[in-house]
Amino acid sequence: MEYKIGPTWHKVDHLLFSSLEENKLTEVTVSIKRIGLLKRSGKLYAFSALCPHAGAPLCAGWIDGLGRIVCPDHKYRFDPVNGRNTTGEEYKLFTYPVEVRDDEIFVGILDQTNL
Ligand code: FES
Repeated sequence: MEYKIGPTWHKVDHLLFSSLEENKLTEVTVSIKRIGLLKRSGKLYAFSALCPHAGAPLCAGWIDGLGRIVCPDHKYRFDPVNGRNTTGEEYKLFTYPVEVRDDEIFVGILDQTNL
């Protein structure tokens, strides 16, 4: 049996890095997962599009002045770099590895076949 270590990279269809606006949250579906994307200071971050508190759609929220994702429902805030809940409620936002290759966006997902 062959084991694979690390995520499988999935291309985000119909979206280029250069078309993303800075500090705007964008939801995409990748390998049936709802994933949020954020371009900030030229870097790209990927995270679960559903809030870990009660499942609100995070891309309906906004980015505060410190670059944190603000949930639209209860206003908990999350660091897009590591998913840390910066308002102290001890929920962690799941983050994904993400890469830009020739302007195309790839999100790394650990599939069951990776186990
Ligand atoms: S659902 Fe996001 S903070 Fe409650």
